[in-house]
Amino acid sequence: MNDDHVGKLRALAGLATPMALRVAVTLGLPDRLRGTPATAEQLATEQRLSPIALDLLLAHLTALDVLERTGSGYRTTEFGAALCTDADNGLANFLHFNLAGGRADLAFTELLHSVTTGEAAYTRKHGQDFWADLAEQPRLRESFDRQMTHRFREQVPRIVAGYDWGRFDHLVDVGGGVGTLLAAILTAHPGLRGHLVDLEPTAAVADRIFREQGLGDRAVASAGSFFDPLPPGAQAYLLCDILHDWDDEHAHRILARCVAAVPADGRILVIEPVGGRKANTEFELAMLVIFGGRERTLDEFRALGSAHGLALDAVTDLTEQRCLLEFRVN
Ligand SMILES: C[S@@+](CC[C@H](N)C(=O)[O-])C[C@H]1O[C@@H](n2cnc3c(N)ncnc32)[C@H](O)[C@@H]1O
Repeated sequence: MNDDHVGKLRALAGLATPMALRVAVTLGLPDRLRGTPATAEQLATEQRLSPIALDLLLAHLTALDVLERTGSGYRTTEFGAALCTDADNGLANFLHFNLAGGRADLAFTELLHSVTTGEAAYTRKHGQDFWADLAEQPRLRESFDRQMTHRFREQVPRIVAGYDWGRFDHLVDVGGGVGTLLAAILTAHPGLRGHLVDLEPTAAVADRIFREQGLGDRAVASAGSFFDPLPPGAQAYLLCDILHDWDDEHAHRILARCVAAVPADGRILVIEPVGGRKANTEFELAMLVIFGGRERTLDEFRALGSAHGLALDAVTDLTEQRCLLEFRVN
């Protein structure tokens, strides 16, 4: 038996550290202990926690160098400060149990269910699917929209620059979120008009962002579902990080709505990681457990499109993570 292997696998598989970090963020400990130290007893009184159990958590966070001990209690280290809510790195959103990212990751405790059935684990874990949960809890929806905006901060300029959006005069962004990408595309191409479709309240946020950015005369946001008819007649329909959220049955239904709306010389544009090309294995598992979706390979995209008479014309590498697939209506 190789002890190194055992130790490495034990460390990879252990749940104590990931859960300790997430509980720390959910309790707001890195924020509370930044600058002003506190003992376990003080914190336990403030937050009505068990002092003995909390001290065990704080000790482990100290072993991880997230906290340090001072003469007057525990304090957040410089390393641990990256977990603070104002660190502007997306981490707190991603780890907090009551925000969309952290809650979604808890579905990994039901990974066995997903691997057994091919279905999302999220529903089994939380009693309803991800989108229903967001619709019911505004705090989850807001945090998800924030997470989506944050993940694209560096990618948007490259997506805008990496494709000839100016060849169209009207683009529909299907499931366009709060409109960050569409706004950037329209700003770069003054001759282009845009129409974003997403669920409420996200569509309303997009509408406000368009007006704030002076795009109110060229950009519309409609509240609606991409399982219902889409605004017809645009030259291009964009699906950015949409299809990987869905199993094949739903992906077909979304594509069918795009095909019903697009004119014969129009294009359907898919931006997402492509399996075997840009996808990352951990992220792929996340798509499975949260949505029952996956990063499809090019062959899978071709098959998906051809069922709707779509031909995959071009594949453009936009960023390290995402490709743009351009489908033509046959
Ligand atoms: C992963 S996000 C991508 C958002 C945006 N395209 C982007 O890349 O930033 C998926 C989006 O699909 C939207 N969505 C989910 N179900 C929808 C539905 N039935 N109809 C319209 N939009 C939906 C969500 O609200 C969310 O904004």
